[in-house]
Amino acid sequence: MNVEGRHYRTIWTEGGGDDETLYIIDQTALPHTFRILPLHSVEDVCRAIREMWVRGAGLIGATAAWGVWVAARTAPEQGFSEFMTQSMEKLRVTRPTASNLVWALERQKKAMAGLSGKEAERAAHAEAAAITDEDAQFCRRIGVHGLGLIQKLHERHPERPVNILTHCNAGWLAFVDYGSALSPVYAAFDAGIPVHVWVDETRPRNQGASLTAWELCRHGVPHDLIADNVGGHLMQHGMVDMVITGADRVTRCGDAANKIGTYLKALAAADNNVPFYIALPSSTFDFSLCDGVRDIPIEERNADEVRVMSGLSERGEVERVCICPPETPARNWAFDVTPARLITGLITERGVCEASEEGILSLYPEQRGI
Ligand code: MRU
Repeated sequence: MNVEGRHYRTIWTEGGGDDETLYIIDQTALPHTFRILPLHSVEDVCRAIREMWVRGAGLIGATAAWGVWVAARTAPEQGFSEFMTQSMEKLRVTRPTASNLVWALERQKKAMAGLSGKEAERAAHAEAAAITDEDAQFCRRIGVHGLGLIQKLHERHPERPVNILTHCNAGWLAFVDYGSALSPVYAAFDAGIPVHVWVDETRPRNQGASLTAWELCRHGVPHDLIADNVGGHLMQHGMVDMVITGADRVTRCGDAANKIGTYLKALAAADNNVPFYIALPSSTFDFSLCDGVRDIPIEERNADEVRVMSGLSERGEVERVCICPPETPARNWAFDVTPARLITGLITERGVCEASEEGILSLYPEQRGI
């Protein structure tokens, strides 16, 4: 993504040798401030994930992978492996729902097996770089496969833009580059297909309003921000051609955990014959689970995210305001699970498949029998 004339990934290092430093974009400051932060210790990395300076399944995974490298370079010579075990555990518990976190830590564990000190540090660096590059490449390919679906809708109604509804932020900011749900949108826009995006604000943290809208502005994609409950009405009136969202975890049977509210959009889409797609790279599959409603852990976050909102005041300052009686309690589930039966298809780096065990295994045959 180009920001102020420079191409950025969402996580990168600068400098060489002992001076090499990990950088991220503080997503809690967007859309009003583009702030870059260095992460020097494994505590910094854990805080960045927990407090959502970085967020989104792919970026959480990539950040955890770099967190292992940060841990390896700051580990004491004596007690190296205990330090690494503790650091990986600290990273593992930062957020519970996205599969990519544990997936990235498992990859790092394998890459560093039997190594310590400088050798382990080099292996962790190489693996973090590989995970980062792979995430970007896989998301680029999701765009290519999703473009085909948008192209077909465009051919059906060439006289008007293809209207795509999305929920939360599964764009460049949620991954290393391109994004999952927004990658097909960018590919279609770049190919000259007229597209228009309905952006759900995505309460309580408003990732749609603050992140997806910001990204679409940067790329020049036509869009309108809508309140979370508008989608059903638009679908009833033929104003949505397709829904594409991302996912934080998808089971081998096709159930998909995504930002809270996604399930309601899928129900409305099914009732109105609007195709509902989930876009994800393979790192978001959890092949160990089938029943997502029963088995995917759903993060419950601080209730103040529901009770308190922040935004730019008329004075041009970012301010926090309480939107309910101060004594009102709140609950804050961050994700819900959309059952496979409501999903038209999964857009992956290997192609588009049915949201079913057979469909998924036809693209990922190496997972048969596991
Ligand atoms: O809580 P977040 O912001 O980390 O949630 C992740 C999301 O943005 C969405 O659920 C997204 O659609 C899937 S992550 C690519």
